[in-house]
Amino acid sequence: MNKRLERKIRYGMVGGGPGSFIGNVHRMAAALDGEIELVAGAFSSDPEKSRQRGEEWFLDPNRVYGSYQEMAEKESSLPLSERLDFISIVTPNHTHYEIAKTFVNANFNVICDKPMVNTVAEAEELVNLVREKNQYFCVTHNYVGYPMVKEARHLVRRGKVGNVRKVVVEYQQGWLANLIEATGSKQAIWRTDPQQAGVSSCIGDIGSHAENLVEYITGLKIKSVFADLTTFVEGRLLEDDASVLLRFNNGAKGVLLASQICVGEENNLNIRVYGDLGSLEWHQEEPNKLWIKYSDRPSELIRRGNDYVGGYNTSYFTRLPAGHPEAFIEAFANLYRSFARTIRAWHESRVPELKDFDYPKVEDGCRGVIFIHKVIESGKTGKWVDL
Ligand code: NAI
Repeated sequence: MNKRLERKIRYGMVGGGPGSFIGNVHRMAAALDGEIELVAGAFSSDPEKSRQRGEEWFLDPNRVYGSYQEMAEKESSLPLSERLDFISIVTPNHTHYEIAKTFVNANFNVICDKPMVNTVAEAEELVNLVREKNQYFCVTHNYVGYPMVKEARHLVRRGKVGNVRKVVVEYQQGWLANLIEATGSKQAIWRTDPQQAGVSSCIGDIGSHAENLVEYITGLKIKSVFADLTTFVEGRLLEDDASVLLRFNNGAKGVLLASQICVGEENNLNIRVYGDLGSLEWHQEEPNKLWIKYSDRPSELIRRGNDYVGGYNTSYFTRLPAGHPEAFIEAFANLYRSFARTIRAWHESRVPELKDFDYPKVEDGCRGVIFIHKVIESGKTGKWVDL
């Protein structure tokens, strides 16, 4: 028998300072199952704000750092009995590469938010580094953590819809319908600044989630893209709206719509997958439901938590009975739990369970970055571009 690891999986966070958005979601998601604990962090590029966050979250002040470089140096020198099992990177896009490289080089496993990095060269370099260093690396394309998304993937694999011929995926938001970056909105400022967001705003921020979701559910690869990109809001430097045609490796066709200027839309991510036998439909804002449609009988609406949702591992990723809604944090927590259980298996010299190894990896992050750049290239050249 392998020796059981008798403790929680430990992590440190980079980013997530006062007033930030996603760092707190990561923290709540990590804590949900009681298997993971936050013990260190460099929460802001401002040391005072980092310290403040450490206090708010009741961390040992000796493990709250003024910079991620200091954190990497000090945490690397700790004995195994105190060493962090992984690092979460929840900073703006342009910082991911250097931070990820620093911690992977120091032999830490990493969870990094999307887009993984800002250039294709950085993405490919990170893939090579993670392989060379033999670390686990997760990119939080968190929508694949939803149980009904896993069920959809299972149904496609089982042939429920037949051969996939057409996919329509949308991620529509309205929060950037006006120039709110000029009014001091922190999240809007860096997302619309090419120095920080990279070559894209809309596709990088939300289109890449749609890309990841499509490939996860269908099991297909996007082969080429044709994009019509627009910057609707005057004074903005990056695109805020995208209509993208997709061609898949099996001959299927698709449409990916992503927008930040659709007034009234919140986080309207939805997907329809049309096969020659049936189709599937899932909406992120109603994530506990999945529609299955047929040509010869009425549509079925299946709901998370019921015994009849028997797909491969779907119930493993469900925590509450049917009718008690689960959503964003639980889906995020599924990625965290799977990643932590993978690391736990490593500690115990076990092979991780396949269902836990099902989180987006460095290669998926790289694919997302390539997708972003190819869409932007297509938008600029007005031509189909291969991935
Ligand atoms: P934010 O602007 O709200 O927070 C960023 C935080 O990082 C701030 O606390 C800032 O002080 C800190 N920071 C910046 N540079 C730092 C450095 N060098 N060292 C330490 N901390 C530093 O940004 P938000 O919205 O939380 O986004 C962060 C990342 O998460 C982005 O890459 C974004 O694309 C991604 N994201 C992912 C989402 C998802 O659903 N997976 C949703 C929202 C954001």
